[in-house]
Amino acid sequence: MRDLETIQSLKKGKNDMDKVIVKIEKSGNRYNAFDKDGNKFTSDITTGARKKAFMNGTALERRVNKSGRKYWWAVPMSEFESTSAPVIDVSSVDVPTDHAEVMNFIHGSYDLKPQGLVMKELKWKYLIRSAVRGKNILMTGPAGCGKTMAAKSLVNSLDRADFYFNLGATQDPRATLIGNTHFDKKKGTYFSEALFVKAIQTPNAVILLDELSRAHPDAWNILMTVLDSGQRYLRLDEGEGQETINVAEGVTFVATANVGNEYTSTRVMDKALMDRFIIVEMDVLTADEEHGLLNYMFPHVDSDLLKSVAEIASSTRNESKSEAGRLSAGISTRTSVEIAGLLFDGFGLDEAAEVTVYPQFSDDGGLESERTYVKQLVQKYVSDGSSEDLFNEEEISEADMS
Ligand SMILES: Nc1ncnc2c1ncn2[C@@H]1O[C@H](COP(=O)(O)OP(=O)(O)OP(=O)(O)O)[C@@H](O)[C@H]1O
Ligand SMILES: [Mg+2]
Repeated sequence: MRDLETIQSLKKGKNDMDKVIVKIEKSGNRYNAFDKDGNKFTSDITTGARKKAFMNGTALERRVNKSGRKYWWAVPMSEFESTSAPVIDVSSVDVPTDHAEVMNFIHGSYDLKPQGLVMKELKWKYLIRSAVRGKNILMTGPAGCGKTMAAKSLVNSLDRADFYFNLGATQDPRATLIGNTHFDKKKGTYFSEALFVKAIQTPNAVILLDELSRAHPDAWNILMTVLDSGQRYLRLDEGEGQETINVAEGVTFVATANVGNEYTSTRVMDKALMDRFIIVEMDVLTADEEHGLLNYMFPHVDSDLLKSVAEIASSTRNESKSEAGRLSAGISTRTSVEIAGLLFDGFGLDEAAEVTVYPQFSDDGGLESERTYVKQLVQKYVSDGSSEDLFNEEEISEADMS
């Protein structure tokens, strides 16, 4: 998957509006010049220069000489490749406007979902639809069930400028969402605005607010007006009559939240803030779905072993849901994937469970503890799939192959 933060920083660094680098493409007997966004510059460049660049395989960069005249200078093609669309220019956004087109886009969008993300067709389409319709989206669900993955996949599926903010990781919401006031001996006090300020001013941007539920309450307060469809502005200072920044047309917010889960560090999100979103609840995977995912991710690991992992995880989740259940939380899909990774690297199921699963469960209460319960559960699978059983199965599959 594309790394959103990397892309974001690339975009930021290259946000030089005046810089134009074109590549020459030959069509028929014409040599056309296009920049990375597909803007045509053919008529600005002499035929000779275009032809020469094409023959030499170079790109051309627009420069200005001392007397203010524009000229085109040959630069390596890598210069062209590294130009990316400036953040502000999203005029070529690929979101259909006509209703029939919107419907086609939504209902054909399941193909856009990455194969490695397990998510039901209806949920995925609802997610796409909400984004296309400019709703604020809140992905909810317990830890490690794919909220961040789904949100990032959504962003990747839309051909729109995107920004990523992890609100769970920030200790200073004002600095992240608004900016910092600095003092410099020469310049005096000055204000440097946060990337978020630029993000909300970018038309049609998709802005990911990861781990909103773990954010500092100050962050929630700052976001309140930004997310309100009737307000949509950011106040740069708390004081009355202070400057505000409006949220640009078509900006979509996608947030994730661990709502109602076991983590105490998750603050209970404010009802008024929740109300500003439509909610897309991530489904926790069934044992079968999880087995399918693990098979897909680790085709070289014995499928029966992966099935055990999926079943162990799933039964802990069921146990944690049932009223008389002994567990306060289940094993997440994230952890299942980790276990499968260890199996792939040659660890046994019992070993993998020992390092990844047991530490997640308290051993308070000795034999009655959650950890004991989970250990016993894992042991069932370890002994079920004892060397004898596994051996038999291997023999059978070997017999099948010969
Ligand atoms: N539905 C899913 N489909 C595919 N992989 C998944 C799914 N859910 C979880 N995973 C696996 O678990 C990992 C963690 O998922 P992700 O980061 O999206 O969880 P999250 O819901 O955002 O968790 P948290 O609440 O801790 O932020 C993913 O990288 C992926 O390997
Ligand atoms: Mg997450």
